[in-house]
Amino acid sequence: MLIDPWASSQVDYDKLVNQFGIKKFQDILNTINKPSRLMRRGVIFGHRDFEKIVPLANQKKEFAVVTGMMPSGQMHIGHKMVVDQLKWYAEKGATLSLPIADMEAYAARGISLEKAKEIAINEYLTNYIALGLDLTSDKVDVYLQSQNNLLKDLTFKISKRANFNEMKAIYGFTPSTNLAHIYAPLTQVADILIPQIPEKGGPKQVVVPVGVDQDPHLRLTRDIADKMNEEYGFITPASTYHRFITGLTGGKMSSSKPKTAIYLNDSPEEAEKKVKTAKTGGRESLAEQKELGGRPDECVIYEMLVYHLLDSDEELSKIHEECKNGTLLCGACKARTGELMKELFEDLHSKQEDAKEIAKTLF
Ligand code: TRP
Ligand code: SF4
Repeated sequence: MLIDPWASSQVDYDKLVNQFGIKKFQDILNTINKPSRLMRRGVIFGHRDFEKIVPLANQKKEFAVVTGMMPSGQMHIGHKMVVDQLKWYAEKGATLSLPIADMEAYAARGISLEKAKEIAINEYLTNYIALGLDLTSDKVDVYLQSQNNLLKDLTFKISKRANFNEMKAIYGFTPSTNLAHIYAPLTQVADILIPQIPEKGGPKQVVVPVGVDQDPHLRLTRDIADKMNEEYGFITPASTYHRFITGLTGGKMSSSKPKTAIYLNDSPEEAEKKVKTAKTGGRESLAEQKELGGRPDECVIYEMLVYHLLDSDEELSKIHEECKNGTLLCGACKARTGELMKELFEDLHSKQEDAKEIAKTLF
């Protein structure tokens, strides 16, 4: 099995843990001081070397977080997960390095650098700020790949450490793959290693929180970091992997499929309405649901509560239980979840305008 970072396929998380050497996040959960909601609830399901980050986060010692965004379309509610994780790391005192992958968007999606910059500012950075991440902090470095000369120099050195056979084995590239597409992941390797160059303070622990589709890049980076260790002192970066959010129709939530996604630009009313169209784990009839109970673990509504809308673990497990024993019915459950989504969007939208002004000043 090959993971293709540029395709949108469903994944079997257990297989990934077993086949690719990704470790179960659950096994280290109890070593973490105040783990985040996504950690506690198993949304972050896997990691590589995260045990090296734990003591640093627990004691607020120096480490860096790298996670990038490819500005290729509208942000949806699933993208909020990355922001939530970054907020958690910021509280732990980490420095954040946030590449905007305009070169990747150009190479893999055919989006012009100008367009990518516009999307990055108006969509990504605006929403990152509106969702509560302080991008103006001196512990945060947001940059466009195409404007970062240190990054490009590092990419050049990195490309000395990889050959076509490896790139083919990891990504399935063929002789007809265009070279920019082959170069893009090397740029991403540089994104992940750049916090460790002398200009950025030298070698340090880095963690990369991403969706599991990005793991091929991590495998390449870890391999190259090892090869460059002797000369540059690079430490192998750690990573965490989160599950994808399910789309409203039950498959993947995808920016390019409006029926599956709640966009961060949707009005609060629209967001609420969309919640009510989501596929549930309810039964055919009311009578059947009362008798057999619902299936919260197969329910998009329940997942929204888990990922985004309910802070209290107790309330969440109460809903789980009442759904399963048939006392909670989908109508009421949807109405409540819709209301919570609306509130989230009201808050988000009240902040977007100011956020955009700040976003415009970032570069
Ligand atoms: N490839 C990532 C995406 O498709 C974006 C990205 C670029 C990234 N550089 C990165 C992610 C560094 C993690 C770390 O969204
Ligand atoms: Fe989903 Fe709620 Fe229906 Fe249970 S009651 S299946 S959690 S919508």
